[in-house]
Amino acid sequence: MTKVAIIGSGPCGLSILRSFQQAEEKGQTIPELVCFEKQSDWGGLWNYSWRTGSDQYGDLVHNSMYRYLWSNGPKECLEFADYSFDQHFKQPIPSYPPREVLCDYILGRAKESDIKKYIQFNTAVTNIIFNNDQFVITSLNKKENSISKEHFDYLVVATGHFSVPYIPEYEGMNSFPGRILHSHDFRDAEEFRNKDVVVLGSSYSAEDIALQCYKYGAKSVTIGYRNHPMGFKWSVGMKEVHYLDKLEGNKATFKDGHTQNVDALILCSGYLHHFPFLEENLKLKTHNRLYPPKLYKGVVWQNNHKLFYLGMQDQFYTFNMFDCQAWYARDVIMGKIQVPNDAEIEKDISDWVAKEEALEDPIQMIDFQTEYTKDLHVASDYPKIDFELIRTHFKEWKHHKEENIMTYRNKSFSSPVTGTVAPLHHTLWAEAMDDSMTTFMKTQS
Ligand SMILES: Cc1cc2nc3c(=O)[nH]c(=O)nc-3n(C[C@H](O)[C@H](O)[C@H](O)COP(=O)(O)OP(=O)(O)OC[C@H]3O[C@@H](n4cnc5c(N)ncnc54)[C@H](O)[C@@H]3O)c2cc1C
Ligand SMILES: NC(=O)c1ccc[n+]([C@@H]2O[C@H](COP(=O)([O-])OP(=O)(O)OC[C@H]3O[C@@H](n4cnc5c(N)ncnc54)[C@H](OP(=O)(O)O)[C@@H]3O)[C@@H](O)[C@H]2O)c1
Repeated sequence: MTKVAIIGSGPCGLSILRSFQQAEEKGQTIPELVCFEKQSDWGGLWNYSWRTGSDQYGDLVHNSMYRYLWSNGPKECLEFADYSFDQHFKQPIPSYPPREVLCDYILGRAKESDIKKYIQFNTAVTNIIFNNDQFVITSLNKKENSISKEHFDYLVVATGHFSVPYIPEYEGMNSFPGRILHSHDFRDAEEFRNKDVVVLGSSYSAEDIALQCYKYGAKSVTIGYRNHPMGFKWSVGMKEVHYLDKLEGNKATFKDGHTQNVDALILCSGYLHHFPFLEENLKLKTHNRLYPPKLYKGVVWQNNHKLFYLGMQDQFYTFNMFDCQAWYARDVIMGKIQVPNDAEIEKDISDWVAKEEALEDPIQMIDFQTEYTKDLHVASDYPKIDFELIRTHFKEWKHHKEENIMTYRNKSFSSPVTGTVAPLHHTLWAEAMDDSMTTFMKTQS
């Protein structure tokens, strides 16, 4: 029987397990599936852990999420086509849920699908080579400290790419008397109450961690951008300046000559696509971008059509895009989709990469990822979902953020699956200090 290995049981790994389960429900014979998961539970990044550094077995901690993390886009934009929010929560919920609520939704579909039986927990994949038309996978059972080697016909890499931090160095760091951390290790904004915080970066982590620190009482928040400022209308006590030049004791000097006292420096400098377990010619090498090269349809490894990567793109779209990718990969594995010849593949990849490289602003990026996801969607039987509505939602979301970065999470959107319009949350995001599911699900404050 054909054997498929899946690495990771985060949203992407769960998407492909769900896709196979749906094919089985439709009466199709599915291959043998084994999903390796190095953590003790499923959900990937959504499976929060207080830990930083390494876990109890000495393995690097995967989690990059933190307390008080709320969705940074409308939940309607990531809704599963085959499992709506209405179906899961049995009542309409606001558009920007906190982490615990979204995690509950992701796992709700997974539990309904009876796919846990495929997952080997506490099992880290440590080495993969391709030999005699098969993947030879070495894995470590962390609990038992035992090593296994198995052969598979297909390999799906769903290990995520927001876990291994990219950590730059600046002059004066070695003698800095305060705290330096990467966003990967940020867990609780309360730690920075009454502190002067400097956040470096200009993307989502920098934006949200700066807001978190401000919300939970930092004395000042200074954001140092490298290339382009985020340019939001920051609250009093927050400011955006150009790039850190050096630290001298507690004094930070920025490229624009600005100086600032600093107690804590938080590096929101992004993550590495890191696949130390893969042999060199199978390894995706890219920075965080919308169309990493060498992936046909963003999924199939150009040089080996038995290897698939899920969710390796920079992400406006998440869960429903992961689903479209998973359904596509499943159909290639099951022979329902034929991958074209090398020349066509090369042309298709080059066309997408050229389009991506010509993008000039976030609105065009939203259009690009919408077109990409729609292109995948039509190729499989992934259920109907209104991607045009999602496109519109994303543009409105962008506009809300520009209007007021402190209030964008108070807005409401309609579902691309059920049409349900989300109720407003009982508490404004800036005043909602408790992010528990119990509090969020209350209809009144
Ligand atoms: C701080 C932060 C906040 C975010 N907030 C949002 C948000 O609000 N909304 C949104 O839609 N998206 C958000 N994201 C994006 C996030 O990338 C996706 O939502 C999603 O988690 C990606 O799923 P994934 O399965 O690709 O990867 P992950 O969620 O990272 O899961 C990968 C899994 O692979 C396992 N794994 C890795 N290596 C191995 C190995 N060698 N062997 C075995 N198992 C392995 C890991 O343990 C993990 O369980 C956020 C990301 C970060 C970092
Ligand atoms: N739900 C939430 O609220 C939430 C919160 C945090 C993160 N997230 C998610 O997490 C994912 C990762 O986001 P991310 O912001 O960590 O990574 P990212 O989007 O890849 O951005 C990386 C950032 O690092 C900066 N950078 C790189 N090298 C640098 C250096 N040497 N010095 C200073 N800055 C440097 C980049 O600046 P340049 O642009 O100048 O290159 C960029 O701003 C996203 O999917 C995001 O949506 C969500």
